[in-house]
Amino acid sequence: DNTMLAPTPPMGWNSWNIFQTNINEPLLKQMVDSYVSSGMKDAGYTYFVLDDGWMAMERDKNGQLVADPKKFPNGMKEFADYVHSKGLKFGIYNCAGTKTCAGYPGTRGHEYEDARLYASWGVDYLKFDWCYAEGMNAREAYKVMSQALKATGRPIVFSLCEWGSHRPWVWGKDDGQLWRTTGDIGPYFDKPVTKNGWTPLTVLNILDRQDSIRQYAGPGHWNDPDMLEVGNGMTVNEDRAHFSLWCMLAAPLMAGNDLGKLSEQTKNILTNKEVIAVDQDALGIEGFRYYAFDGIEIWVKPLTGGDLAVCFLNRSGRAQTLNYDWTAHLINDTTSKTSVDFTQTTFKIRNLWSKKDLGTTQKVFKQPIPNYDVVMVKLSK
Ligand code: DGJ
Repeated sequence: DNTMLAPTPPMGWNSWNIFQTNINEPLLKQMVDSYVSSGMKDAGYTYFVLDDGWMAMERDKNGQLVADPKKFPNGMKEFADYVHSKGLKFGIYNCAGTKTCAGYPGTRGHEYEDARLYASWGVDYLKFDWCYAEGMNAREAYKVMSQALKATGRPIVFSLCEWGSHRPWVWGKDDGQLWRTTGDIGPYFDKPVTKNGWTPLTVLNILDRQDSIRQYAGPGHWNDPDMLEVGNGMTVNEDRAHFSLWCMLAAPLMAGNDLGKLSEQTKNILTNKEVIAVDQDALGIEGFRYYAFDGIEIWVKPLTGGDLAVCFLNRSGRAQTLNYDWTAHLINDTTSKTSVDFTQTTFKIRNLWSKKDLGTTQKVFKQPIPNYDVVMVKLSK
């Protein structure tokens, strides 16, 4: 059963956001070691995923993919074994088209042999990109690769990296466990930055495209708003907001920072177990924007047992103090069939970042909230 491969959003680390194609065995082994020693593994991160750039520029004379012999002198099987020896799962990358986005050999026409090769290496997760795919039918292409992976008999999480133009949320759940909703993220919260003629999306750009497709996410099949940029140059407030919002969205949590240079601040964000628990809640309901005023948005995510995660996001451009009367607004979400009347039901409030209990929803909720930051709480009965 497909669902069991990812009953909750997959968690891991991916090489792309920080290293792009500049990866190699010693560097990555250091990442694996830091993944374990930093507490990322204990916090629930499981997958270690190599993105674009791991291959030699050509297939070998038998048509097989090979790891770049300079970057991986001991080959990919040895590296996969290293990842597994640390109790992690191993992920790899290729592309549905004739080449990967960075120009390495793509999988088109080699689906079954590539799938068998990955299975022989012990691959547990495949991210499958969408470059050099002109004229291809996305739905067909992802189905073929999905069937090739299933035919190996090895459980392999399949991450569809088509960036949303073919609406993978409509059909992707038969093929894989997650699909991208949008183009590539950059380490920017609200102001896009162009580098080498290319402008990645900001955290807020991506956030604003999630509400309309949230009904397609659930246990075993997740909307993927792209990997995390926590620790890659945003302010600590922005990093905290980005991470909180991705957890509210039940997003796959793929860290993308240099684990060898993990600051205390970054580590505290990525390993906050109470915030991660919101992402990983068993109901798998993607949160939604419930109310907005004065540049503050309130996101709500229904949790198991009638609890709720609530995230106040300040995108107003200035520091504010929340003064929020819970009883003034009903929650009525038809998608998840959640309704809450705070005049009838009282919840206890726990701040998931300060880790403090803050009374109940009977009282007006007063909290400072810096610009581009969040106050994230859990409400329980
Ligand atoms: C485009 C994807 O969206 C990125 O996440 C990354 O995998 C690059 N391709 C690699 O070339």
